[in-house]
Amino acid sequence: MCKKVIELQQIKRDFHVGDEIVHALRGVSFTINEGEFVTIMGTSGSGKSTLLNTLGCLDTPTSGEYFLDGIAVRTMGKPQRATLRNRKIGFVFQSYNLLPKTTAVENVELPLMYNATVTASERRQRAIESLQAVGLGDRLEHKSNQMSGGQMQRVAIARALVNNPAVILADEATGNLDTRTSFDILVLFQKLHAEGRTIIFVTHNPEIAQYSSRNIRLRDGYVTEDTINANILSAAKSLAALPKNDED
Ligand SMILES: Nc1ncnc2c1ncn2[C@@H]1O[C@H](COP(=O)(O)OP(=O)(O)OP(=O)(O)O)[C@@H](O)[C@H]1O
Ligand SMILES: [Mg+2]
Repeated sequence: MCKKVIELQQIKRDFHVGDEIVHALRGVSFTINEGEFVTIMGTSGSGKSTLLNTLGCLDTPTSGEYFLDGIAVRTMGKPQRATLRNRKIGFVFQSYNLLPKTTAVENVELPLMYNATVTASERRQRAIESLQAVGLGDRLEHKSNQMSGGQMQRVAIARALVNNPAVILADEATGNLDTRTSFDILVLFQKLHAEGRTIIFVTHNPEIAQYSSRNIRLRDGYVTEDTINANILSAAKSLAALPKNDED
């Protein structure tokens, strides 16, 4: 049986700028089931960030319905949406968004601070396990400025995982990384996918769609393509095939 994690029904988002109305989303409908790894692609201005903000409960659509893990989001007040976001969604951004001069463990503990049912020692334990899961068990006490870009992104992924969210939303998560490190991070996303995680990955880079299980393409606020990938490439294999010591 497939569990629906995301259900969008005719989502529209208009922005009023002076006398103009910008139709950023013009009626977007799709369902994402548990365990899917979906890439969302489209040219600049096609509505990707607007869609991701909607999915992440950071923005409210002008019309349409959004169900997150079965919960109707549109009619919720701001505080409830914030709680829902904290419990159900893990975010991974292009620029990592870690707290500066703060250790990996402390950064990963952060989402659990808003959860009164989690004790301090449990919080630490879960943060450590989450960092171990992304291969950073040996960097627990490193501060943000003492890590490479790839390591910082791993910390961000550990932070996204620590609440055991229903869905992970990534916005250009490999955008700041060199080719080899991008593949490292893609390997990690594929591992999470193999473990049954639901992932939505917004990107400009068409190559990344070859590693996801489904690709949705946006244009002008519409979905123009929604395809299942029957031939998912292995990021680990592509990484192994990269020339060594390349400068990119
Ligand atoms: N807060 C806003 N106010 C007014 N217009 C906006 C706002 N946010 C987005 N838009 C407009 O909505 C459209 C979609 O923007 P969006 O940021 O979703 O595109 P995108 O696909 O993420 O582009 P990019 O690849 O450049 O990040 C654009 O025409 C943009 O100008
Ligand atoms: Mg954008």
